[in-house]
Amino acid sequence: VPVDWSTFGVDLHLVPGPGGRRAGLEHALRDAIRSGRLPPDTRLPSTRALATELRVARGTVTAAYNQLSAEGYLSARTGSGTVVADLPRGNTPRARAVPADPQPPRHDLRPGSPDVSTFPVATWLRATRRALAVAPMTVYGYADPRGRLELRTALVEYLGRTRGVLATPDQVVVTSGYVQALSLLTTALVRAGGAAIAMEDPGLGFHRDVVQRAGASVLPLPVDDDGAVIDHLSTLDVRAAVLTPANQYPTGAMLHPRRRRAAAEWALRHDGLLIEDDYDGEFRYDRQPVGALQGTMPDRVAYLGTVSKTLAPALRLGWLVLPERWVEPVVEAKLHADLHTEVIGQLTLADLITSHGYDRHVRSCRLRYRRRRDLLLHRLAGRFTVLGVAAGLHALVQLPPDGPGEPEILARAQARGLALTGLAEHWHTPGAGRPQGIIVGYGTPRDAAYAAAIATLHHILSPPRSPRS
Ligand SMILES: Cc1ncc(COP(=O)(O)O)c(C=O)c1O
Repeated sequence: VPVDWSTFGVDLHLVPGPGGRRAGLEHALRDAIRSGRLPPDTRLPSTRALATELRVARGTVTAAYNQLSAEGYLSARTGSGTVVADLPRGNTPRARAVPADPQPPRHDLRPGSPDVSTFPVATWLRATRRALAVAPMTVYGYADPRGRLELRTALVEYLGRTRGVLATPDQVVVTSGYVQALSLLTTALVRAGGAAIAMEDPGLGFHRDVVQRAGASVLPLPVDDDGAVIDHLSTLDVRAAVLTPANQYPTGAMLHPRRRRAAAEWALRHDGLLIEDDYDGEFRYDRQPVGALQGTMPDRVAYLGTVSKTLAPALRLGWLVLPERWVEPVVEAKLHADLHTEVIGQLTLADLITSHGYDRHVRSCRLRYRRRRDLLLHRLAGRFTVLGVAAGLHALVQLPPDGPGEPEILARAQARGLALTGLAEHWHTPGAGRPQGIIVGYGTPRDAAYAAAIATLHHILSPPRSPRS
């Protein structure tokens, strides 16, 4: 019978081997030492303690220890009992080492991440403490697949106040980030017979993959300076479209009010669903944020949000605000995906929102990112066209057709230890003749590293000086 021993100071599961009690114990210990589960220098329990725990005679344990000492697996140290010996490496396959993180780049201006060094650790800890201090024991059990009511209620208030979202907590499903929200909604759409979804082109290739893996095909929806070209939707055989109206990813265009109206008309005429990705709607710098599309037609828009830009991607917390008829199919998909999202983070976020700590954090981040945006413009304006600067954590630097192209700029950046992302990888169908550009994620570096990263970018984008004649 396998035995779990806790007498070692560490818990250890041993499967006794064949033979009698002594042989079985020797086999189990040998195996634990060889496999690295009992690492060198681990102090073994006294023969008396182990014998009592295993309910065998003390002499059996003493004999097993002696045998393994003779074989070199154990060594008896005066004063510190019996310890696991440090066998020559070849004999001891250790637990496999965790691969080290790849070397981070010297400068990182890739889009996608906020400055994670601003994560409000102390505020988060206080919110967790407050939330758990009042939480009933039932919060540690299985929960509602829609997520905790505390968080859904807090989100409805917060999103209504800051983004103009209109909903009741019953329409909210808490997810593991935007990506899961997109996947669940696609699953629900596919089950309802909608096999194709329009997605902005350029857009994030990973999100296209998520939709395809959930069973839908993706049809490209072109984008121009006014955001997604909504008129094009009527030419596609789709009943759903994913849009980033507040800040198109990656061009940074805002969906023009005319296009917002056209989107609403399309949804009404085609019984369509608009999937609004409001991934960084809190970050708008020069004027009042435009409200969410959802607020103008709540029964035709599924609103998707996340804390990945405001707090940290690591939290994996996001939400869907759904038209009533999509709630049940999405909840069904959520239940079968993972039952529900982790609860303690949900309670903490609910506390953070209701105590307004979330507002304060977002406000201070907005100031920080605005300063960074200003520095980027200061360094590049006048020489390059920089698009999408009014909002978000990234901007698009257009590369003029007569200058060095994307591959050359990316190669120069790599040579100087600067991680950059080109526009090319965002096209649905890559090809020659596309506009070229660099997406500068100005949220990513720490404050202290930002100016140097921008200086390096400036250097790389500047054409080499021609030799003086
Ligand atoms: C366009 C867009 N939407 C959504 C997200 C957020 O995704 P998640 O909540 O899964 O981290 C990102 C993150 O980079 C993004 O770029």
